[in-house]
Amino acid sequence: MSLTTAAPLAAQRNPSPLDAAELLSRPELEALQLERLQWTVRHAYENVPLYTRKLDEAGVGPDDIRSLDDIRLLPFTTKADLRETYPFGMFAVPMEQVARIHASSGTTGRPTVVGYTARDLDTWAGLVARSLRASGIRPGMKVHNAYGYGLFTGGLGAHAGIEKLGATVIPMSGGQTARQVQLITDFEPDAILCTPSYLLTIADAMEAAGIDPRSTSLRVAVLGAEPWTNEMRHELEQRMDIDAVDIYGLSEVMGPGVGNECVETKDGPHIWEDHFLPEVIDGETGESLPDGERGELVFTSLTKQAFPVLRYRTRDLTRLLPGTARPAMRRIEKITGRNDDMIILRGVNLFPTQIEEIVLGIETLTPHFILELSKQGRMDALTVRIERHPDLARETCEAAAVVLAQKIKVHIGSSVAVQLEEPGTLPRSEGKYKRVYDLR
Ligand code: DLL
Repeated sequence: MSLTTAAPLAAQRNPSPLDAAELLSRPELEALQLERLQWTVRHAYENVPLYTRKLDEAGVGPDDIRSLDDIRLLPFTTKADLRETYPFGMFAVPMEQVARIHASSGTTGRPTVVGYTARDLDTWAGLVARSLRASGIRPGMKVHNAYGYGLFTGGLGAHAGIEKLGATVIPMSGGQTARQVQLITDFEPDAILCTPSYLLTIADAMEAAGIDPRSTSLRVAVLGAEPWTNEMRHELEQRMDIDAVDIYGLSEVMGPGVGNECVETKDGPHIWEDHFLPEVIDGETGESLPDGERGELVFTSLTKQAFPVLRYRTRDLTRLLPGTARPAMRRIEKITGRNDDMIILRGVNLFPTQIEEIVLGIETLTPHFILELSKQGRMDALTVRIERHPDLARETCEAAAVVLAQKIKVHIGSSVAVQLEEPGTLPRSEGKYKRVYDLR
C-alpha cells in the first residue's frame, strides 16, 4: 500500500465515522447533559467569585440542579459580566492551567477575554473536526483556512479542528485576496473556510483574474462568524459550484464549532448538545420559550474547565428545532440577526439580512451593498447604497433600484432610498463584513 492512499483507505472502511455522542438517543444525551450540568454549576460556583455571588443572590446552589429544567433557576450571564471581570476574573482554573487566551475585539469598551485549558483546546478541536465532517470534509482532503489568525477564535479554532480531522490545513488567514486566489489555484484545496461575505470577495477576485469560480478545485465552503441568508447560500453555491454549509459559534461559549449544519440537509446548524445546553428566551422578560419559538439564544457550557458559562445570553435571535441528520441533537434556525444589528426605522424593526434576502432575489442587482442611517430633519432615514451591475445598461440598473425600494416597502414596511454606485467602489469584506453605517 502506498503512503498516499492511507487516508482514503481508512476513510473507505468507515466513510463517515461519527463521534459516539452523535449516535446517542435523546434520553441518553439528556442523562449525559444532566451529569455535566451538575458538574459545571458546581465548578463555576466553587471557582468563579462572580458565579458564587450571582448564585448566592439568586438563592440557588449546585445541589438544586436535579433535572435539566432546573437550569431555569440559574441567573443569566451577560457580556457586561465579562467586562466587569476583565481580563481574567471569570477563569475557573489557576492561570498556570490556562493554555491559551482569545479575545473578541469589542466595538465598544474593553474586549472580552476567554481562556482554555489543554483539555478545553482538545475538546474544541474535536468539535470543529466533527463540524467539518458534518460539512462533508474527510481525512486526506486539503482545507484552505481563511478565517483570521490571532486573538479571533476563527483562525486558530478552525486550524486545530482541520488537523484533528486528519485533513491538510493551509493556514492562509484573512486578507491578501489576490494571494488567496493564487494559492487556491496552485494548491487545489477541496474546501475553504471563511466568512460568507469574504467568499463573495474571493469569487469576485477570481473573476477579475480571469478565473471561472466554478472551475476551481473547491467543493465545500464552511461559512460562519456573521449572519447570512439562504439566498446568499444559493448565490455562492451557484457562482462557485460548491456546497455552502453553515458553522456557528461564539468566543464566550468556545469559538467556531458550537454547532454546524450537515451537508446532506443544510437546514440550520445542529448544536453539539453533548457540550452545550441551548435555550431560547424572551429577550425582554427573560422567560424560557418552548422549542420552535423565536427569541434570544442562551448557552450553558457543559464540559469547559477554564471558562465555564452559565446561561450566557448571546443576543443572537433564532429558534430551536428538532434534530434531522443527527436526530438527538437539536438545530437552530439559521441565524439571520442579532439584537445589536436590529435597525429601528420610524417604528419598524429591520435586520440587514432581510435586505440581503431581497437584494439577492433581484437578478439585475449585485450583492454589494451597504446600509447608511442618517437624519432627515427629525426623521431617521435609511439609504441602501448598492453597486450597479457592471454588464447591464444603466436603465436596467435604475429599474432594478426602483424594484428594490418597492420590495423593501412591501416586505419590511419601510421607505428607503436606493442609491446606485459604480462597480467596485463600495468596501469589500475581508472577514466579518460591516454592512451598516450609522451617520446620525
Ligand atoms: O465569530 C466564532 C466563529 C468563527 C464562528 C468562525 C464561525 C466561524 P465571535 O467573534 O465571538 O466568534 O462572534 C460571535 O458571530 O454571536 C453571532 O452573532 C455571529 N455568528 C457566528 N457564527 C454565525 C453564523 C465567532 N453561522 C458572533 N451565523 C455570534 C450567524 C454567526 N451569525
